[in-house]
Amino acid sequence: MTQSPEFEPQIVAFCCLHCAYAAADLAGGSRCGYPSSIKIVAVPCTGRVDSLHLVKALEDGADGVMVAGCLPGRCHFQTGNLHANQRVEHVRHLLEEIGLEPDRVRMINVSAGMGVQFAERAKEMAETITALGPNPLHVRKAKTPPSETAMEETN
Ligand code: FES
Repeated sequence: MTQSPEFEPQIVAFCCLHCAYAAADLAGGSRCGYPSSIKIVAVPCTGRVDSLHLVKALEDGADGVMVAGCLPGRCHFQTGNLHANQRVEHVRHLLEEIGLEPDRVRMINVSAGMGVQFAERAKEMAETITALGPNPLHVRKAKTPPSETAMEETN
């Protein structure tokens, strides 16, 4: 896909407060920064992230969505990260079904001390989304005249 050279992917990252948010904070506070286009949304546990949150983020214009939770077996709510992983896989499958790239949604697992790894995974995500190009859902929505958008929303 060809995209404008200035394309900077907008990525929403749902990060659990116990591990991934702390890792992101550590990454941001050290020299191993991650792209500023990654917007962190703190959640108590990735188990709180519903499939609809992921789809809605894409619908609202995110080019990619990342879910970042505790390491397997380390979720403070025991199985929240496992449920989140299942939801991410479900949404990846849904994206594939509708002809969108499943790689726009991804789950990672980090501990609070893994700031470097968080930054690396975030950069990888940004590179993947840059290669995929802008979210077609958002591009299509932006091209739709306002009157049609209003009609779609009322139907
Ligand atoms: Fe971190 Fe559940 S508390 S994923």
